[in-house]
Amino acid sequence: MEQLITNETKQQYVYMDKCREIIKKKAELRKKPFTANIKTFGCQMNARDSEKLEGILENIGYEIVDSEDADFVLYNTCTVRENANLKVYGRLGHLKKEKEKNPDMMIALCGCMMQEETVVEKIKESYRFVDIIFGTHNIYKLAQLLYERFQTEEMVIDLLKDTDKIVEDLPSDRKYSFKAGVNIMYGCNNFCSYCIVPYVRGRERSRKPEDIINEIKALVEDGVVEVMLLGQNVNSYGKNLSTPMTFAQLLKEITEIEGLERIRFMTSHPKDLSDELIEVMKSSPKICNHLHLPMQSGSSRVLKEMNRHYTKEGYLALVDKLKQSIPNLALTTDIIVGFPGETEEDFLDTLDVVKQVEFDNAYTFIYSKRTGTPAATMENQVPEDVVKERFNRLLAEVQKIAAKKTGSLTGKVETVLVEEKNSHEEGFVTGRLSNNSLVHFKGDSSLIGTIQTVALDEAKGFYYIGHMVD
Ligand code: 5AD
Ligand code: SF4
Repeated sequence: MEQLITNETKQQYVYMDKCREIIKKKAELRKKPFTANIKTFGCQMNARDSEKLEGILENIGYEIVDSEDADFVLYNTCTVRENANLKVYGRLGHLKKEKEKNPDMMIALCGCMMQEETVVEKIKESYRFVDIIFGTHNIYKLAQLLYERFQTEEMVIDLLKDTDKIVEDLPSDRKYSFKAGVNIMYGCNNFCSYCIVPYVRGRERSRKPEDIINEIKALVEDGVVEVMLLGQNVNSYGKNLSTPMTFAQLLKEITEIEGLERIRFMTSHPKDLSDELIEVMKSSPKICNHLHLPMQSGSSRVLKEMNRHYTKEGYLALVDKLKQSIPNLALTTDIIVGFPGETEEDFLDTLDVVKQVEFDNAYTFIYSKRTGTPAATMENQVPEDVVKERFNRLLAEVQKIAAKKTGSLTGKVETVLVEEKNSHEEGFVTGRLSNNSLVHFKGDSSLIGTIQTVALDEAKGFYYIGHMVD
């Protein structure tokens, strides 16, 4: 396996060289550099994949630009809810016009949506101008696919149903110099009945701890102070390694990396959250005071239908334990409204948990039917108007609580990581607290990427206004 991975990486660098030659010649001929633009839809996993894709394009010699008026436009797609798919089709119509104006332009599609056969069929039929299609398991092959496209007039399609391969050591272009996402595992084995992710991202595969640690050490050398460990269900990390290890053990090792200041992770499945993890979180100040713990529904009956493997009481007990063990822990969650068969009573259970837990923030979603998932064929799909009405009630409650919670640190002094210049107010910067809240305070761009101590003077809805203290 080791040998295979190394060879694969080497091979991809050869394709990058080949593409670089082609692009260079073309650019000289037309006396203009080649530009590329990646548009990312969906979650943090996709955002991280896009950094890798951008790294490959940069290595080839493309200049990365912000606009879609570019020579290579790549959509990294999401399919978790139908809306995400509709957005892609809408934008493709616009891209077609751009391509008619620029004979050098190439359009590529990758990511979760491409793992669905019906989507690829539709693109082959109705969007013939697309040049390259690939999926979630072969993003490391971008240079190879681009090279193939240069050799043919045909659409290049490369899709794998699943993979057990993890290709390491390819280039990557980070969005921020001071913080970075790090994949610790890929795929998901949970098959929540509404969710398409296990079908498009494949089975769970954990990266080796030494590869993760080495990547983080290299990031720290390069100026990174905060990492976000990424996986669909980080709490089941390490189960399929040749020497199994738990997520808590990995986390502990990561806390020992010198120079690394902050560690975040997502997503945690409540069914797998161990006492060992709570202990590690409690004992390391480097681990941020924030946990994203999707509850999806507050009704035990619905949770069973969702295949979530916990009950309302189980979730509440877990939250209780977390709050007791880690004071001031910020909790966020995901909630789906309108799962098939959800009754008013079920929904009231969801509202009840929201009120009891007092989430710092909750991402609320209207249930979206995904073809191929068990929930799609369930009877009693809830009528749209009923779902909308429930969704609005939930949102109002969530927002009321979130605003109240944001105020809870007013008057306190906290460390923050300065992330950017404030776009609304000249002379201000924006920093992130350990609990993931934002604070705006006076300062200039030289502070970006540093950790500062800030007094939180005032809470304004969902953020604080503060000032730096020495
Ligand atoms: N409909 C609505 N929301 C969904 N999610 C996943 N699948 C669906 C679906 N079919 C939500 C879940 C998950 C988040 C990333 O997206 O809440 O935690
Ligand atoms: Fe989807 Fe459930 Fe896996 Fe999360 S844990 S990706 S909701 S199947």
